[in-house]
Amino acid sequence: MKTKTPRESYTEITEMVLPNDTNPLGNLMGGQLLHLMDIAAAIAAGRHSNRVCVTASVDFVDFKGPIKLGEVVIISASVTRAFTTSMEVKLWVFAENTLTGVRRECNSAYYTFVAVDQGGQPIPVNKLKPETPEEQELYEGALRRRELRLILAGRRSPEEVNTLKDLLQQRVEQS
Ligand SMILES: CC(C)(COP(=O)(O)OP(=O)(O)OC[C@H]1O[C@@H](n2cnc3c(N)ncnc32)[C@H](O)[C@@H]1OP(=O)(O)O)[C@@H](O)C(=O)NCCC(=O)NCCS
Repeated sequence: MKTKTPRESYTEITEMVLPNDTNPLGNLMGGQLLHLMDIAAAIAAGRHSNRVCVTASVDFVDFKGPIKLGEVVIISASVTRAFTTSMEVKLWVFAENTLTGVRRECNSAYYTFVAVDQGGQPIPVNKLKPETPEEQELYEGALRRRELRLILAGRRSPEEVNTLKDLLQQRVEQS
């Protein structure tokens, strides 16, 4: 099992918004954007794990403003933390008007991917070691976000998470 950095999974995809991708107002359809985000996240998770990865969950996604026909969408993705078989991937979405050269941030989101074998069963992934202070912050926050999404998915009870937190705290204090 290797230890990799977020940089090694960094992925950027750039697409022009075409008429087929838009609603009657000429704005990029939300589902189309989610599709592109899913692809960028899958590539990042695949680069980190060198495995086939499936989307396990998508956190709350907020569409702050429209992305217009003819604009360019830039999506970047990076693994923020690897757990046992799952990875949290952060996505940043930008829109660029190539006529003005102005680029604006549109939204960000977290996806969870799970590495699977040929039978679709989860398999362990490479570890992740953050390098920069920003990556460290995302790495630490990933644990809290994971707890929350597992509670929301009905996979953990809040009591169970508190017990795990207490155990973790005890370990930190003992080390
Ligand atoms: C994702 C999937 C492989 C998990 O399988 P599973 O039998 O539930 O496996 P496990 O319970 O062992 O969980 C495996 C990992 O997934 C994580 N996981 C599962 N569901 C999750 C969810 N809703 N949110 C976040 N993480 C989740 C678990 O926490 C675990 O992580 P860890 O090993 O790092 O601790 C399975 O649910 C699946 O195949 N889902 C469909 C995936 C798919 O087709 N996606 C495309 C959209 S349809």
